[in-house]
Amino acid sequence: MKSSLLLAASSLLSTVHGHGYLTIPKSRTRLGFEAGIDTCPECSILEPVTAWPDVEAAQVGRSGPCGYNARVSVDYNQPGDHWGNEPVITYTAGDVVEVQWCVDHNGDHGGMFTYGVCQNQTLVDLFLTPGYLPTNEEKQAAEDCFLDGELSCLDVSGQTCGYNPDCSAGAACYRNDWFTCNAFQADSNRGCQGVDGAALNSCTTTIAGGYTVTKRIKIPDYSSDHTLLRFRWNSFQTAQVYLHCADIAISGGSGGGSTTTTTTTTSTSSTTSSATSSTSCTAATSIPVTFDARVTTTYGENVYVVGSISQLGSWSTGSAVALSAAGYTSSNPVWTVTLDIPVGTTFEYKYIKKESDGSVVWESDPNRSYTVPTGCSGAKATESGTWR
Ligand SMILES: *[C@@H]1O[C@H](CO)[C@@H](O)[C@H](O)[C@H]1NC(C)=O
Ligand SMILES: *[C@@H]1O[C@H](CO)[C@@H](O)[C@H](O)[C@H]1NC(C)=O
Repeated sequence: MKSSLLLAASSLLSTVHGHGYLTIPKSRTRLGFEAGIDTCPECSILEPVTAWPDVEAAQVGRSGPCGYNARVSVDYNQPGDHWGNEPVITYTAGDVVEVQWCVDHNGDHGGMFTYGVCQNQTLVDLFLTPGYLPTNEEKQAAEDCFLDGELSCLDVSGQTCGYNPDCSAGAACYRNDWFTCNAFQADSNRGCQGVDGAALNSCTTTIAGGYTVTKRIKIPDYSSDHTLLRFRWNSFQTAQVYLHCADIAISGGSGGGSTTTTTTTTSTSSTTSSATSSTSCTAATSIPVTFDARVTTTYGENVYVVGSISQLGSWSTGSAVALSAAGYTSSNPVWTVTLDIPVGTTFEYKYIKKESDGSVVWESDPNRSYTVPTGCSGAKATESGTWR
């Protein structure tokens, strides 16, 4: 089964070129296509990379969070004449909005996708500066920030957030905070096309016709005159990731920056929760950091966090900090704990499971690392992760 799948994947790789891109809000790629500069908007591909089962493993390289289309040699991480100079839409913080991407009929590779907002204006500004092409390191730092600023499926009440049928329980892809396509080889309503079940050519691609893929996201409590919404689709079938971004503005949020008024004292949290910000705030010396881990456990197993700082037991499993399973459900196996940690502290850590017989199971390498963001008094941060 597995080998025939791989075989199918490698033979398709050389013949199939239609894939997918962000259409609503209008991505930079869509604007490039509409301007006649990009002749295959669905062809911005990061490859070959580990796209599955660990959906966060791939380094974005030259593709960056906004995508590089090698077919037409266009780097969407840099503003161009037709994109990147102004927001295409202004959202209101806290609103739930519909977003959409378009998958090509011949390139529906299944898998999972996610949206994100990076709440570090300094980092995002690198992608908004005319004439400036961010370095690969800056591209990766921004993508890390977009992953931290994930707009979870679970943030939208009433939205069905399922697991990917091609991912087994316990694997890194077994998470329903990301959005999922249907089973890759399903008889009907297969792959990403099956999400909407829309008609062929319900959106535009250049290879074989497109199908819309629509979901709802909640705009974070953050403000910016100009920032980016990043879309990322991890293919199940192929070793590919698709990255796109749209220029947006967010109004009415309690935290955030703007491209014109950001100063060092208006720094915001790079994490999923907002950090309060104003030009005359009292800087926090330490902030509450919530460790939010998705770990599927069996009865009698408990989850702890252990790491390189004293607050995390200085790597001693005997001093590790216990997480609470108060919010745990089988569909969202979440373990959490909140600790006050001085701002700017950089540390490494791992989650561990303690079994009922006292033995310890470590997460696989590498160590996780985190830097506590700076912020005003009252700021908080969340570090989310899935057991690996
Ligand atoms: C993780 O950190 C520990 C403690 O510093 C170190 O011994 C170990 O080598 C690190 N693991 C990796 C993969 O770097
Ligand atoms: C924002 O990103 C910049 C550049 O990577 C970094 O120096 C800064 O510490 C980040 N700010 C916050 C609040 O995380």
